[in-house]
Amino acid sequence: MSFQVTIKPSNHQYSAPEHETILESALREGFAVPYGCRNGACGSCKGKILQGQVDYGKYQDNALRETEKKAGMALFCTARPLTDLVIECREVGAARDIPVKTMPCRVQKMEKISHDVMILHLKLPANERLQFLAGQYIDILLKDGKRRSFSLANAPHDDEFLQLHIRHIPGGLFTDQVFNAMQEKAILRFEGPHGSFFLREDSSKPIIFMAGGTGFAPIKAMLEHTFQAHSKREMVLYWGAHSLRDLYMPQLAGQWQRDHANFTFIPVLSEPLAEDQWQGRTGLVHQAILDDFADLSAYQVYACGAPQMVAAGEQAFGAQGLPQDAFFADPFVFSLEA
Ligand SMILES: Cc1cc2nc3c(=O)[nH]c(=O)nc-3n(C[C@H](O)[C@H](O)[C@H](O)COP(=O)(O)OP(=O)(O)OC[C@H]3O[C@@H](n4cnc5c(N)ncnc54)[C@H](O)[C@@H]3O)c2cc1C
Ligand code: FES
Repeated sequence: MSFQVTIKPSNHQYSAPEHETILESALREGFAVPYGCRNGACGSCKGKILQGQVDYGKYQDNALRETEKKAGMALFCTARPLTDLVIECREVGAARDIPVKTMPCRVQKMEKISHDVMILHLKLPANERLQFLAGQYIDILLKDGKRRSFSLANAPHDDEFLQLHIRHIPGGLFTDQVFNAMQEKAILRFEGPHGSFFLREDSSKPIIFMAGGTGFAPIKAMLEHTFQAHSKREMVLYWGAHSLRDLYMPQLAGQWQRDHANFTFIPVLSEPLAEDQWQGRTGLVHQAILDDFADLSAYQVYACGAPQMVAAGEQAFGAQGLPQDAFFADPFVFSLEA
């Protein structure tokens, strides 16, 4: 059985199955309701029940005091609906609304998905979750104050593990360690979330995503978020790579295209190998977009990957009509401290 939940003051509405917490169903429907531990311990998800009844679930007394409960408050990460509800909470509309945390994490799983890309699945301490917007990144904290940035490849609703897609830079301080020494169960520290590369959901403009290499990671998070939220926006992903072996998750993007009528996947190879027997698009990824869209004035573009690709795209798309405020990017600039 499902109940209708109305969030005030936004008046957003969604259907909440009785077996899910209010937070779970809100996140699944794409509403960015604040939270921290997702486990009834921190109080970050506290909000008011204006109408209706809930099962409060199990939580720690200090996260929701009896006086607060009597005043109509509940923890949305543990409360489940018993009737239709009207709740009050501040939705997270921008990156600045989300607290930046420093946390340890354990490398739960290492998946070498291609010749030079490793997927790390990071587990947070019990009672901790990281709130972030799809597309944001974290900084892995290294010795001597050094840090390296990596985009979160999982969508916020799917946050049991944080997922990073790490390309090996031979000779690189951190990625050499990942590929040559790191073992599962290793402990890392990170700070985040950071960045303003997140989906602008107040727009209904069609979206062009441009990814280069592991620039696919934050775009994967954004796409999985929009699919989860049942967005009907037209979306096309151009994923650029040197050769076929550098497109490290083509099956996933192909599956999205089969599952979602509003999504198209266009891989573009700049240097296909003979053995690739490539029949698809070739050349530079931003050029493929320019060739396909003579007028970009009605679109939003989200670009992520090598700084040169992002810069070339920004300049050329502007010349082809893309408004300045419709271009969003996360160039993977190198750290200045080696
Ligand atoms: C916001 C942001 C998000 C990022 N997200 C990701 C991500 O999701 N996945 C990912 O793989 N990387 C990502 N990066 C890049 C990443 O932070 C590191 O720069 C990269 O992994 C290299 O780290 P390292 O310590 O191994 O190399 P370093 O010790 O920093 O570099 C050694 C040398 O290698 C060269 N170098 C460094 N990085 C690159 C590069 N990317 N391409 C070519 N040459 C390089 C430089 O000459 C440098 O001096 C991101 C960067 C930023 C700023
Ligand atoms: S109490 Fe921590 S998120 Fe609900």
